[in-house]
Amino acid sequence: MRLDQTSDQWWKTAVIYCLDVETFLDTDGDGIGDLNGVTQQIEHIAQLGATCLWLMPFQPSPNRDDGYDIADCYGVDSRLGTLGDVVELIRAANDRGLRVIVDLVVNHTSDEHPWFQEARRDRESPRRNWYVWRDEPSDEPEGLSFPGTETSNWQYDEEAGQYYLHRFYHFQPDLNVLHEEVRDEIARIMGFWLALGVAGFRMDAVPALLETAGIPVGEGHDLRAWLRDLRNFVGRRRGDAMLLGEVNVDPQQLAQYFGDHGDMLHMEFAFLLNQHLWLALARGEAEPLEMLIRTLPALAPDNCWATFLRNHDELTLDKLTLGQREEVFAAFGPDPDMQLYGHGLRRRTASMIGGDGARLRLAWSLLFALPGTPIVFYGDEIGMGENLDIPDRYAVRSPMQWSAEPHGGFTTGAEPVRPLPEGAFAPAEVNVDDQRRDPASLLSFIRRLIAARRRRPELGWGQVTLIETDAPSLLAHRTDWEGSTVVTVHNLGDADVRATLELGEEVVAVDDVLEEHAVEMGDGGRVEVELEAYGYLWLHLRRDGDRRLS
Ligand code: GLC
Repeated sequence: MRLDQTSDQWWKTAVIYCLDVETFLDTDGDGIGDLNGVTQQIEHIAQLGATCLWLMPFQPSPNRDDGYDIADCYGVDSRLGTLGDVVELIRAANDRGLRVIVDLVVNHTSDEHPWFQEARRDRESPRRNWYVWRDEPSDEPEGLSFPGTETSNWQYDEEAGQYYLHRFYHFQPDLNVLHEEVRDEIARIMGFWLALGVAGFRMDAVPALLETAGIPVGEGHDLRAWLRDLRNFVGRRRGDAMLLGEVNVDPQQLAQYFGDHGDMLHMEFAFLLNQHLWLALARGEAEPLEMLIRTLPALAPDNCWATFLRNHDELTLDKLTLGQREEVFAAFGPDPDMQLYGHGLRRRTASMIGGDGARLRLAWSLLFALPGTPIVFYGDEIGMGENLDIPDRYAVRSPMQWSAEPHGGFTTGAEPVRPLPEGAFAPAEVNVDDQRRDPASLLSFIRRLIAARRRRPELGWGQVTLIETDAPSLLAHRTDWEGSTVVTVHNLGDADVRATLELGEEVVAVDDVLEEHAVEMGDGGRVEVELEAYGYLWLHLRRDGDRRLS
């Protein structure tokens, strides 16, 4: 056993499963999912093959932004359970080899948080400076997170007699991270959850967190140094702790959140890769993805991307050009009701792609083959659809569909926390129970993909190189790590294609990692591949003398 970074940086070969406790499984019949429900169904997540569970916010909250408006950073929403239940869940997960990470939402609090209540009441209060106040609204920062829903980043507060900064909704006042006490409190919050057993944090809204009203990252107060301090802090408290940052910025700004030596965030969500993946799917061409893979900054050994098909928010297409965004809208969400904030889609993967078929399986294969650690959003593993009757981003956060029973088996109560979809994506059509028994189901397919991904650590650790072919619909790339290579080929188009892959003379044989095809090796390290519409192929290359161990 080698004792280098491969034994510690578990997140490089992880498969992350993201869920909202409120919508996963209700065990007490009140219609609201609970922590005990997640514990009860932990085997579902373990059997899928995930190795890390990301819990969306479960703290006390007025719930005006699905818990991203926290009113007590050290507590648990009593509808969902208790701190004791959190510890039991973490233990049950750890027993199955699953680590647990939680959201760290500290760019802002709820306006109902006692800190804000104290701050607004009295200019002399020690909490006043915990938030960002102005007598007049400022022009800074530019841009709105929820255009159409909010009109400014500043909100006048009658009680305070001043404006406060809010990068998100007006009921989410931004914390003032230039204040040392606030920074200490944030470390204390992280220390608290680490002590309860979490293995890291999904850090909400990192660019907004590091930017304080008109003082962008890197200018004046360099809050990036603080991000490095936080990384060191979590590392001291728990050696293998991981920070995964929500960083949706332009390509040239991505690197600064990893740090010059990879010593800030361990991981960033690959938003750009995601947006270009959907563009490539819409066009049936590999070029948008190839271009993006060439553009991404090279990462230090201590960093990696987190990839996803869909997350819990809108499918944001904000970094595409207007024309490109229209192409994705036309292909996957033409109805204005499917669109949000002018830049995103409030639909799930399976419904956008038209249900379980070759194209959906191609998308999943692509996700697990691309550089980065894959994240599965709950319900997508069975191909759940959204419920557009639920407003805003909540459309993709309807209850998990466990069975064909009433309310999809999510609750025995009369009224689920959100309504489940009807029609082709209703629980009778799409549910865990049916798919678990069916080896041909999407769930079984994704289990096999995850198992294959876990068998091939090259995909997590390796260096990615694009392979040129003559077919525009083919994305072919190789991932090399420690003398071992995986080559994956994906046909994004709706027609069969053939291509020749030049793999190098030293390659004597290729093995199909997904065990679906027999692939013959040609002369001189060449392989002829023939992929049907939306076909995919993962090959492990064998060189002379290589042992066949997996
Ligand atoms: C992040 C979350 C989103 C939330 C926002 C404000 O973008 O993903 O759901 O609304 O932060 O906390």
